[in-house]
Amino acid sequence: MSIPCDMLVFGGTGDLALHKLLPALYHLHREGRLHADVRILALARSSHTREAYQALAERHCRAQVARADFANETWASFAARLDYFAMDAAQSADFGRLAKRLGRDDERVRVYYLATAPSLFEAIAAHLANAGLAGPAARIVLEKPIGHSLESARAINAAIGAVFDEARVFRIDHYLGKETVQNLMALRFANALFEPVWRAGHIDHVQISVCETLGVENRGGYYDQAGAMRDMIQNHLLQLLCLVAMEAPVRFDAEAVRNEKVKILEALKPISGLDVQDKTVRGQYTTGKIGGHDVPAYYFEKNVDNDSDTETFVAVQVEIDNWRWAGVPFYLRTGKRLAKKTSEILIQFKPVPHRLFHEGEANQLLIRLQPEERISLQLMAKNPGKGMHLKPVELDLNLANAFNQQRRWDAYERLLLDVIEGDSTLFMRRDEVEAAWQWVDPILQGWLQHYQSPRPYPAGSDGPEQLQNLLERHGRHWAE
Ligand code: BG6
Repeated sequence: MSIPCDMLVFGGTGDLALHKLLPALYHLHREGRLHADVRILALARSSHTREAYQALAERHCRAQVARADFANETWASFAARLDYFAMDAAQSADFGRLAKRLGRDDERVRVYYLATAPSLFEAIAAHLANAGLAGPAARIVLEKPIGHSLESARAINAAIGAVFDEARVFRIDHYLGKETVQNLMALRFANALFEPVWRAGHIDHVQISVCETLGVENRGGYYDQAGAMRDMIQNHLLQLLCLVAMEAPVRFDAEAVRNEKVKILEALKPISGLDVQDKTVRGQYTTGKIGGHDVPAYYFEKNVDNDSDTETFVAVQVEIDNWRWAGVPFYLRTGKRLAKKTSEILIQFKPVPHRLFHEGEANQLLIRLQPEERISLQLMAKNPGKGMHLKPVELDLNLANAFNQQRRWDAYERLLLDVIEGDSTLFMRRDEVEAAWQWVDPILQGWLQHYQSPRPYPAGSDGPEQLQNLLERHGRHWAE
């Protein structure tokens, strides 16, 4: 059960609030995890009444929440927590009105969730401070991406830091709230088996893939400015890489875990200048088919420039300059409108040192985050019958089956509860975000300096042709 608090959601009529945050809060409410005195106040410019907003929220929650989990009485008790306040987050005067509405209570925990464009972050923090709303019990939650470059991220962090000390800033990367992502830490640090082989001597390379079938949906305006590097690699994929590569933290707490992640980000070998042509692949989808339906090319999507050269696909070969990982490439890839939706991490081990059986493949450990949560270890086994013929077989753990009594939490449920409880272990610290940009910026600059238009790939394919070459030139292959 959480503590009492006010949860204020800026951008309360936006996709994130309606599709993710409110359904997550509804689930927490339904399962009795929210204190009776948790109030939710959605903030946006439209002039909804409380009832009209509740009706809007109900429509979205009904669509997002599994039918078995949605009940009218539960909704009614959840809606009693839910209120709406029309204001313009860019206007300081509106924060005065908000302060009046909330009343003065410095003891009460107030969570300001900024589900808005990052361009508003600095102004909102300053206005909250001026209106006396940023007292010691206030917390702020920022959605990624934090800025669009190292410089802008530093400016945002500085402006937020001038109002909220670091312990009260929660930078969300929802991948860290995913169950299997946390399981990665359990797998590595609660099992003695893996640690001795989790290093360059035994691992040939690592692949991290986040492939989506979705296009840019209603987010063309944002996405066209961001592209896959800023939208996915800078945050989600680098976070996954950190969890695979980091040393064991001394404790499972916010500082110890994040200290280890930062060390990895700081050890990433820079990619700049002409290197970008050798180590990265940028792509953009053209027209094609998804699930049997025709879909338009990226540059025909709503709110996207018709001659846009924004990348909707990136693959990159990353190296980590430290003792454990020297010489082990980490290949990252992510893209929209690909053939299948999957997020997975493949650890490719080296072959056995002496091939006794003259055949056989090296072991692979596959950690799948989506669509199903599973961990499977590919081993070599003897084919039954005469002779010594080998075949790869899988030791397969389906996590949903292993814990089949329990509903799988959405990432936002876990993270929202952590914010209310003030636990920032699964949030990005200021130096982490900046270290990630520090590595990403030279790639973005390299793309501009040595410009090549993004490689086209048909929607519904596996990505641009050049993707294969990134691995094949080293005698490696992408996981199927
Ligand atoms: C978001 C990106 O952070 O993550 C989206 O902005 C992307 O572009 C989404 O679609 C993917 O998240 P998930 O949980 O569906 O893999």
